[in-house]
Amino acid sequence: MTRISLIAAALGASLLAAPAFAEQPTPLIAQGCAGCHGQSGEGQGAVARIAGYDRDAFLAIWQEFRDNSRPATIMNRIAPGYTDEEVQILADYFASIQ
Ligand code: HEC
Repeated sequence: MTRISLIAAALGASLLAAPAFAEQPTPLIAQGCAGCHGQSGEGQGAVARIAGYDRDAFLAIWQEFRDNSRPATIMNRIAPGYTDEEVQILADYFASIQ
């Protein structure tokens, strides 16, 4: 194989692989929510559904949990453990699933 065809092959492979990324794999950090909110954020028992949660509402509520301005039993202790970047990932992820 020439150098060019090697590059072309590598490009082709990455293009073929691309659709897999569009499927939004569950981010590792979101797995920590499953025990209470259900495997796909569908909610369970008294714990709210968070799948399909509006992204901006999620970010606003997270901030309220963090600064303890929203009544909470547990999320006020969980929320401060995530960085802003992780919270964005969580907000994007839960907004993207149903
Ligand atoms: C130990 C159980 C538990 C875990 C783990 C947990 N939650 Fe919660 N979550 C709750 C409970 C209970 C509430 C209701 C508020 C409260 O009492 O803290 C709640 C409320 C929420 C709400 C607000 C829902 C609403 O509309 O009132 C969001 C958003 C949320 N959780 C997101 C998450 C995310 C994202 C994770 C993972 C990073 C997570 N939670 C992990 C138990 C949990």
